[in-house]
Amino acid sequence: MAVTFIPNTPEWMADPYTSYRELREQDPIHWSEALGHWVLTRYADVVSVLKDERFSAANRPPQRRWDRPTTMVTADPPDHGRLRKSVRHRFSLTAINAQRPRIQEIVDELLDVAEPPGEMDFVAQLSRPFPRTVMLGLLGVPDPLLSGSLHEATPPKPAAKDSGKGSKLRGVALAPGTAMPGERYFEEALEKHREELTDDLLGELLKAEAGREMSPEEVLDTAVILYAAGQETTAKMIANCLYHLLKNPDQLAALRADPSLLESTTEELLRFEAPAHAITRRATADVALGEETIRKGEKVLCILAAANRDPEVFDDPERLDITRESNPHIAFGTGIHACLGATLARVEIQIAIETMLSRYPKLRLTTDDVEWEGSFIIRGLASLAISLS
Ligand code: HEM
Repeated sequence: MAVTFIPNTPEWMADPYTSYRELREQDPIHWSEALGHWVLTRYADVVSVLKDERFSAANRPPQRRWDRPTTMVTADPPDHGRLRKSVRHRFSLTAINAQRPRIQEIVDELLDVAEPPGEMDFVAQLSRPFPRTVMLGLLGVPDPLLSGSLHEATPPKPAAKDSGKGSKLRGVALAPGTAMPGERYFEEALEKHREELTDDLLGELLKAEAGREMSPEEVLDTAVILYAAGQETTAKMIANCLYHLLKNPDQLAALRADPSLLESTTEELLRFEAPAHAITRRATADVALGEETIRKGEKVLCILAAANRDPEVFDDPERLDITRESNPHIAFGTGIHACLGATLARVEIQIAIETMLSRYPKLRLTTDDVEWEGSFIIRGLASLAISLS
């Protein structure tokens, strides 16, 4: 029977990897009538499309709710380079390393506030509020959950426990974590920044606007997209990381015994279970791929999460191995659109995991029965109940 790709069902949500393996083995360049896309699952094919300028990121239907027409995400050259340039240097290794103390402080404060006697929902209390607080700080926008002026969201509930440490973050951990500041919040923030240029991401965008490198609409959209792109993906990734470490006690023990494995652990977890499963492109010319021809105008779904388990590239790919040496995963994509925030995400993951392990030596899952949410665009844990003691 011909293999089909029917994502987003409860079975697929619980385990997408079986369907990826079947596709890769039986029909790696698969035409899905239902999705109206070619579906690619081999590493080599995915990389070749993402690096091929005949495939455009523009004029595709928005994949994620924050995709907008005027940002780098859906722009082709030369606009793409122009839109990425103004903020690129803010995400370099040097720039992100300089943020480490503040990022550590945010994790510590969230844990101080959230810390219940013995258990916590890691998603609601740490992995979700953490990247949003980091990103708002980098943008130079006051956190609406802290200032109590959130648009399009319910105000935070009081924290369950007073940490007694005078934390600025009190209330964040228990606030509705999915709350997004709306566009108007960023518009107002930009207005304030226009009055007085500041040394932050909004300041950089406004410099580009003043130099006529970006229009006011592009500036606003880029601010929104930086906020959104840096949030949901990282939040889901951090929870995925902790879940798989706690589910694999041998790997957890190896990391605890040798903390220098933190970097390779992060890369392996990104390969094994990153939240951004698939990204789309549209052919701008007829392109031969394997035994197929992708015709001009046709859309392609590049399944990164399938490519990252391709046995042609990764030994024993279904196995989590934090000591894996060769790991050219593409969890952050590849080519000109490769994730701008990859270094920031890596640092956030590492700080969160390191802090959890050192702070809670007895950390464990309270249940194996976890619920996955999202879609084949972004998939992650809805919650993660853990015991701290
Ligand atoms: C673990 C967390 C993250 C994952 C798995 C992830 C994944 C990705 C992927 C797969 C792409 C490529 C999209 C495409 O080619 O169409 C991408 C692009 C992007 N990411 Fe991330 N991302 C993460 C965190 C972040 C963070 C923290 C930021 C911070 C701002 C960020 C900002 C962006 C931006 C702006 C782009 C578009 C780049 C471009 O089009 O040139 N991401 N990300």
